[in-house]
Amino acid sequence: MQNLINITDLSPDELSGLIATAEDIIANPMKYANACQHKKLATLFFEPSTRTRLSFEAAMYELGGQVLGFSEASSSSTSKGESVADTVRVVGCYADIIAMRHPKEGAPIAAARTAGVPLINAGDGGHNHPTQTLADLLTIWRERRTFENLTVGLCGDLKFGRTVHSLVQAMARYAGVKFVFISPEELRIPKYILTDYLDPAGIPYQEVTSMEEAMPNLDILYMTRVQKERFFNEADYVRLKDTYILTPEKLTNAKQDLVIMHPLPRVNEISVDVDSDPRAHYFDQVKNGKYMRMALILKMLEVNV
Ligand code: CP
Repeated sequence: MQNLINITDLSPDELSGLIATAEDIIANPMKYANACQHKKLATLFFEPSTRTRLSFEAAMYELGGQVLGFSEASSSSTSKGESVADTVRVVGCYADIIAMRHPKEGAPIAAARTAGVPLINAGDGGHNHPTQTLADLLTIWRERRTFENLTVGLCGDLKFGRTVHSLVQAMARYAGVKFVFISPEELRIPKYILTDYLDPAGIPYQEVTSMEEAMPNLDILYMTRVQKERFFNEADYVRLKDTYILTPEKLTNAKQDLVIMHPLPRVNEISVDVDSDPRAHYFDQVKNGKYMRMALILKMLEVNV
């Protein structure tokens, strides 16, 4: 596989292979300690990140490789006017693989054309975030040991939430999955997700505004932050940002084996009082993200352990 731009670049069989590798890494970390010796990962982050950038870097270090890159556009020569295409072409002369985040939707596709080495989309605007989905899938797998016959509720900013778009595209390929999209009117799931991925496959979904009403039916509850950085109007952000706040009281009617997820960072969407609930798995997603990124790097560099 040359590049990972969308989660659908990986088949369900390939996803299962990555999950198997990640679980083997968790069980036998030392087996992988030198797997990427003399290999270099470049992390090119034109937009802020804590988890994605640092977990890619931790992943490469734990594979025995090395890391270079930048964490903000202002410290790269793009601030002098260099194009993203030229930047990744240059970095491809130094690194064996690139993970790139950019605020513009589609930027990783354009970058991949000139990179000369495998390129991973680490989040492009309000579009997609495939490696967060890898973290999400491993988390669901470790809790349920299946992706089939699950009712998945996604709550919050479904319009700009790129992790939502990638997760729906991934989960839509498993039998018996149903979606409940919980959002204010202004932040509904983009139409193309419904018309391109769900409608043609006859996958059932509902669009609702009440989290409490949806709660009793859910197997997965995927909370999201309202994406302040994608709003043109501060007043709209302020009006919408606290529409959904998950508290212990709102979980009263939830299933006992509900899996509560959030890609993080959280702002107010989940009360810290929920953190001690055994159904809360958002910090497991963080750990799982590193293992899945390790598995992905091995696959893309064609390293066999
Ligand atoms: N989940 C996620 O993408 O977090 P960061 O923005 O901190 O990378």
